[in-house]
Amino acid sequence: MPTFPAWYFDESTMAGIDFEDAAQVAVYDRNQTSSTPEKEQALVTRLGIAAEHTVIDLGAGTGNFAIQAALTGASVHAIDISQAMLTNAQNKAQKAGVTTLKFHQAGFLSYEHQDQFVDFVVTKNALHILPDFWKMAAFLRIAAMLKPNGVFYLRDVIFSFPAADYEASINDWIKQVAKPAGEGWTAKDFEMHVREEHSTYGWIIEAMLTRAGFEIVEANYNTPTNAEYFCIKTI
Ligand SMILES: C[S@@+](CC[C@H](N)C(=O)[O-])C[C@H]1O[C@@H](n2cnc3c(N)ncnc32)[C@H](O)[C@@H]1O
Repeated sequence: MPTFPAWYFDESTMAGIDFEDAAQVAVYDRNQTSSTPEKEQALVTRLGIAAEHTVIDLGAGTGNFAIQAALTGASVHAIDISQAMLTNAQNKAQKAGVTTLKFHQAGFLSYEHQDQFVDFVVTKNALHILPDFWKMAAFLRIAAMLKPNGVFYLRDVIFSFPAADYEASINDWIKQVAKPAGEGWTAKDFEMHVREEHSTYGWIIEAMLTRAGFEIVEANYNTPTNAEYFCIKTI
């Protein structure tokens, strides 16, 4: 493991859900309906991932995207800070019979890519774990892993409502998406996300991506609380 200065962010103390608890990981996997094999397969196709490519999935979770990417024959690195998440993903990968997927217990700020530069870095629903200063550090590290013209795909809970409307926007969002206990993410889960994690505004993310050396080819603010970015490394 590399050594970092005493002021460096400690990725092992995560806010939010305890992703080291196998039971919570299983609940997570059931609730995370935005990440089914079918949806991830569609994203793999949209990105144009194929057998000749190398892909890094940062914050890979229970592995649905990494497995679908590896099923194309691409060489895939699934990175997650949580061993319980990786174990869940490894079991799925074994069942799916994928052979080109490697797992690494590491984080946005600690993963050291030992191989050649990669064609794609993907991160979905994970970057919000970092405060903004450290998101910028993560973007710089991601740019350093990519080939020139390599693709960075980011999706997360990212806000695009007018800042002055933040109270009503957050309340409306939680009202719309929260499910009763046992049926998915509850109001308490979303409240905790806003209170303790670090989702931020799209205009902040766009400025950081640009300063990290990415061209934003497409930014989609599908809802006021969710965004995705297709970026190309330009430097
Ligand atoms: C909400 S899940 C998203 C998983 C998956 N990408 C998806 O779209 O379903 C967030 C993941 O980020 C991981 N994580 C938390 N902090 C991290 C860090 N600093 N570096 C990398 N992964 C981290 C968690 O263990 C968890 O698996």
